[in-house]
Amino acid sequence: MNNKIINFIKKKNKSKITSLTAYSKNIASIVDKHCDLVLVGDSLGSVLYSFSSTKKVTLDMMIEHSKSVRMGVKKSLMVVDMPYNTYRNPKEALSNAKKIISKTKCDAIKIEGGKKVVQIIKTLIKNKIPVMGHLGVLPQSATNFKFKGKEIKERKIILRDSKLLEEAGIFSIVLECVESSLAKEITKTVKIPTIGIGASVHCDGQVLVTDDLIGLNKIKARFVKRYSNIEKQINDAVLKFKKDVVTSKFPTKKHSY
Ligand code: KIV
Repeated sequence: MNNKIINFIKKKNKSKITSLTAYSKNIASIVDKHCDLVLVGDSLGSVLYSFSSTKKVTLDMMIEHSKSVRMGVKKSLMVVDMPYNTYRNPKEALSNAKKIISKTKCDAIKIEGGKKVVQIIKTLIKNKIPVMGHLGVLPQSATNFKFKGKEIKERKIILRDSKLLEEAGIFSIVLECVESSLAKEITKTVKIPTIGIGASVHCDGQVLVTDDLIGLNKIKARFVKRYSNIEKQINDAVLKFKKDVVTSKFPTKKHSY
């Protein structure tokens, strides 16, 4: 395990961990200044490409966006999602994870799932590829986006899976839309940091999709808190530009050669 990852794990029980998504350099460089982890999430499929699910996101899309993000990330841990159907067995996962790491120079990859992906995780880690887990709502296979952990049977499976993933060697785990008391129990049980999205304040850290947080993406999920309305600011700037152009106020001599 490299030092960056060891230091990330050490944050557990010391300070809360902050993480946000980035799909390109400019946003990545802002997020990098303030967060511990920058995630190139496959959420880019719905956020940027209006796909109905993340299933349509390809390896090439993740690699190209990650190359851009890499240019903006200087100090944070950079994690890239392995997209749907790129880790169906250990051999496929290893070949695709190696491709992601070598082409993007990211620090780690993230894969969704519990018991089913344990062998895959073990193979990646044996090959020195750091892995972040993802439990709860799993967008790549979800049929609905209801929170997880209401039923006892479901709670037991998610808790069991968190232990299995930890034993397999993951360095951290995203808990997506997991009921609060279950997220608390998992966070107390595992020694690695839990990063919640819609999984309560009890997690070791939080992650959000940056476009949701800045008001550029119009998703209405309960777990999103909007900290800014960038859409309005862009709208106002574009409107001012248009007015200046139609009234010949722009460009002035200052902006001309
Ligand atoms: O794809 C993504 O952005 C994610 C986060 C929501 C955790 O997996």
